[in-house]
Amino acid sequence: MCGIVGAVAEREVRDILLEGLKRLEYRGYDSAGLALITTDATTSDTRINTVKTVGKVNKLVTATTKAKASGRIGIAHTRWATHGKPSVANAHPHRSGDDIALVHNGIIENYESLRTLLKKQGYRFDTDTDTEAIAHLIHHYREGNKHSLLSAVKKAIKLLEGAYGLCVIDNNEPDKLVVARSGSPLVIGVGIGENFVASDPLALGQVTDRFIYLEEGDIAQVERESVNIWHKGKKVKREITTVAHQNNDSDKGRYEHFMLKEIYEQPKVIKDTLDGRISKTSVLEQAFGIEAPGLFDKVTSVQIVACGTSSHAGLVAKYWIESIAKVPCQVDIASDYRYRDIIVLPGTLFITISQSGETADTLAALRYAKKLGYVATLAICNVATSSLVRESDINMLTMAGQEIGVASTKAFTTQLTILLVLAIVLGRRTGLKPAAETKLVKELHKLPSIIEKALGLKKQIKTISKQFSDKHHSLFLGRGIQYPVAKEGALKLKEISYIHAEAYPAGELKHGPLALVDNKMPVVAVAPNNDLLGKLKANLSEVSARGGKLYVFADESINFASEKRLKVINVPSCSEVLAPIVFTVPLQLLSYYVAITKGTDVDHPRNLAKSVTVE
Ligand code: G6P
Repeated sequence: MCGIVGAVAEREVRDILLEGLKRLEYRGYDSAGLALITTDATTSDTRINTVKTVGKVNKLVTATTKAKASGRIGIAHTRWATHGKPSVANAHPHRSGDDIALVHNGIIENYESLRTLLKKQGYRFDTDTDTEAIAHLIHHYREGNKHSLLSAVKKAIKLLEGAYGLCVIDNNEPDKLVVARSGSPLVIGVGIGENFVASDPLALGQVTDRFIYLEEGDIAQVERESVNIWHKGKKVKREITTVAHQNNDSDKGRYEHFMLKEIYEQPKVIKDTLDGRISKTSVLEQAFGIEAPGLFDKVTSVQIVACGTSSHAGLVAKYWIESIAKVPCQVDIASDYRYRDIIVLPGTLFITISQSGETADTLAALRYAKKLGYVATLAICNVATSSLVRESDINMLTMAGQEIGVASTKAFTTQLTILLVLAIVLGRRTGLKPAAETKLVKELHKLPSIIEKALGLKKQIKTISKQFSDKHHSLFLGRGIQYPVAKEGALKLKEISYIHAEAYPAGELKHGPLALVDNKMPVVAVAPNNDLLGKLKANLSEVSARGGKLYVFADESINFASEKRLKVINVPSCSEVLAPIVFTVPLQLLSYYVAITKGTDVDHPRNLAKSVTVE
């Protein structure tokens, strides 16, 4: 997804901007660009120098060096196309005349009417983007040099409908960055005698650890020595937060891809997620904040909202919350939830699940939900400083560390881990006995080592992955709580190997998808040792009878035997409650190795972005 970096300093800022863009690369992008205000050494005249390229940030680095672009103030952007194809023209920064340049995250919904309006004023449009209209609008409100950049931006944003994070420079005021936030995150990085702007603090880890998080509707003027912020026309003060660990984990170490590294980090990050949250025998619910226990006391039902992989974590959690806590739980996709009429039962806890905490649909769902009378809002999130966490009443953070691979792995299993803890916390209030809690907590303690064992399946999975490389379609089957696990397995495979993968509850096979099964169709099934095993086996026989090739990930204690056209992969034995987390791991490895065999760009799959901050 798009990324913004801006800097104003005494020193040269070109490399700061480029490094910032590199740090945002993992979010997914298709083109990049920067604009610097360059001062002529002899005449002291200034002019805006723009460099833009299609493709990776390295190309921009080369082009910037070639263009000898330099400056002490500048803005930069990585773009993920929404309006108009990835091209140099459509890449940001966008210009209006010689003086205005701006970068934008988000989507302007009324850009067509703005274009019509501006064309009537004599503006020419050179790109297909919504952003170019903002540049011209600001230029228009400058009325030559009659009004300052700040007041022109203030006027311009009044006309914008949609979402934006903006950073603007003007050659007539070559010492200022003007920024505005509405629906798209922006932070100001505070330095000494220099200041910065970014859509994610991660981009500025090399220059500062002090940040001001702009709030919705904020406009700011950022200069070398000062930061001034306005909200609804009034000047406001915003707190400076120190954010530790601005390291983007950008080292793959001994791994070929971030995704593999992140798969292997799971035992550790699951342990980190449990640390301080459980004792030997019980959950330490105070770890979730002082208000949390009081709010949990009021909960009689749960509504979960999320997108993508995070929504699969929600679907698994529904089973835990209903079986352990006996509390009804509903799960919605954020993009649907925000547009439907919702009936909120009294005592309902609203939960969002998100790795990034910046997903536009999930954030919009939270904002919508806050008006509906839920008992409280809880964010389960991997980024402590994210908008989602800041806007929710309480949070339970996952400790996955930064996830760079676009296909989510460790974020998912840590989300599941914390959701299981949540089910126990709610269960305490609805009759879960201390002995039952202790049993569950002891299971949680075993989790990191079972995951470690599951990673040992790598070699076997690598071998079978070769059999998928020429396939175009596949089916994933699971029953009950394993159905969302099958969905996640199928999502991973399609995301990174581009093989069509469809997940079905195994019991539904005979109601349609069985028609697809022939000897060319690989069918993957997850078979933990639970009460549904007999029924699952019957479903698998239906596949075998149609000549389908089965790959069954089975709990080793079942002693499921391989046969012709049925390959069993024995998964380390685990309790039923842990099975969704444990069985996820071999499916991650399967998709990874299939993608490797196919030679796709595992960490940056085509058309996808890590963090989707537009609707
Ligand atoms: C994007 C990512 C997915 C992720 C989804 C939700 O589509 O590619 O991996 O599951 O967004 O992201 P979130 O940060 O809210 O979990």
